[in-house]
Amino acid sequence: MLKLAIFTAFISVGESGRYGAGLPSDGFRRDNSGIKLQEVFAWSKIDYNWPNMEARDEAMRNGVYVAENNLPLGVAKWKNKLFVTVPRWRSGVPAALNYISLDTANATAPLNPYPDWKANALPREDETPTENHIVSPFRIKVDPCDRLWVMDTGLAGITDNHKRIFPSAVVIFDLKTDKLIRRYNLKRSDINGWSSLFSNIIVDVTKDTCDMAFAYIPDMQGYGLVVYSFADNNSWRVRHNYFNIDPLKGDLTIGGVSAQSPFGIISVALGPGKKNGKKLLAQLPIMISDKEMYFQRFRTAYFHSLASTSEFSVSTEVLRNQTLATDPRSYVLFKFEGNKGERAQSSASVFDEKRNVLFLGQIQEDLLACWNPSTKLTPQNVDVVAVDHEKLIFINDITIDDDQLWILSDRMPSFLYKLLNFNEVNYKIFKVSVEESIKGTRCAT
Ligand SMILES: *[C@@H]1O[C@H](CO)[C@@H](O)[C@H](O)[C@H]1NC(C)=O
Ligand SMILES: *[C@@H]1O[C@H](CO)[C@@H](O)[C@H](O)[C@H]1NC(C)=O
Ligand SMILES: *[C@@H]1O[C@H](CO)[C@@H](O)[C@H](O)[C@H]1NC(C)=O
Repeated sequence: MLKLAIFTAFISVGESGRYGAGLPSDGFRRDNSGIKLQEVFAWSKIDYNWPNMEARDEAMRNGVYVAENNLPLGVAKWKNKLFVTVPRWRSGVPAALNYISLDTANATAPLNPYPDWKANALPREDETPTENHIVSPFRIKVDPCDRLWVMDTGLAGITDNHKRIFPSAVVIFDLKTDKLIRRYNLKRSDINGWSSLFSNIIVDVTKDTCDMAFAYIPDMQGYGLVVYSFADNNSWRVRHNYFNIDPLKGDLTIGGVSAQSPFGIISVALGPGKKNGKKLLAQLPIMISDKEMYFQRFRTAYFHSLASTSEFSVSTEVLRNQTLATDPRSYVLFKFEGNKGERAQSSASVFDEKRNVLFLGQIQEDLLACWNPSTKLTPQNVDVVAVDHEKLIFINDITIDDDQLWILSDRMPSFLYKLLNFNEVNYKIFKVSVEESIKGTRCAT
């Protein structure tokens, strides 16, 4: 069970956690920490935009809001809204899906529940939840069709009383109207019993093919990848050894906290489209022009486990095809891209198609790394975008919008072991232009 998995980890806190220079031992990387990540938000604790002070006081009195239990984790951007998730690790999270208006120039801005307070309130025992209800999403995505894709784990009190409120579900909102488009509960066959934890969602779509979107959903603790087809309103689970942990790469020290991580596949990043698949055209019941656009858009999906330093890939042509994706013989279609470096375990990743660069948050090194797939994946070719042993402790999510990278760091290991100091700044969101971020690195072409 999740609760066990998190707490059977060996904990030690102390000097062992801190590394002087922090740069990998290969000695080849340049330190580009001079690059200015612009700090946009910096909180010690998270607060919300309450209807009034009485509502806040009451929420604090009855335990609906416990500031110390609110850890921002996922980030996504649409126009002037920056979405931020706050999973219900413990009780006292009043709203798990939120946004901040980027029009307000307040670095400690409070969060606004999305789509509203009601959808974020935990339903009482006797209450039938509404379709747009949100319990505990980790990461979320905005797509080019003005939709917000939320992967809701459906779990509350993940590390204390661990209660399933809803089945894990893909919840899709129309950002123009803030109305629910669809809620899709994952099927029994998508789930690996009590182990499953769906902490991410990656959307494969272009603005010309909105109705043919696919979502890829890593199961980081059940070691699988679920594919959801929007057109078919159907899902399937893909299995592969590459979704597992590397047992020799799971002992991590992050921000002074040491633990053994049980987490497998955590992130998928979609590389550029490829002209491909023409032979399959005739089988699809859609217009020719749509078909062409559709099949030009097979991409390379780069993925990794948290407890691993390897990066792997598979074509979305495999993932999108249920027959192919679930055929055990398809294992040969997955590729080992390479090793990122001795201490290069990564959490979040995102791909910038324009410059052909994969960005990776390397959690043991407190750094944001990049790799250009036109070069072989070796430790030497993974370069440093930014490193900071205070500010970049645990990069938990990265997103790209309007040629800007948005990076959320949140000291999550310290949070999980109740070691945060709430007099310090604990959670930060930075931005930097993609162009600027790779200047002078091996990732620039
Ligand atoms: C910024 O937000 C915080 C709440 O998180 C509030 O206390 C503070 O007054 C705000 N500052 C400004 C300038 O609006
Ligand atoms: C999608 O499938 C689910 C369950 O299989 C069903 O409950 C739901 O109504 C379907 N939604 C649409 C839009 O077809
Ligand atoms: C899916 O893959 C199978 C096996 O390779 C192939 O026969 C089939 O045509 C593919 N279906 C689609 C819709 O691409």
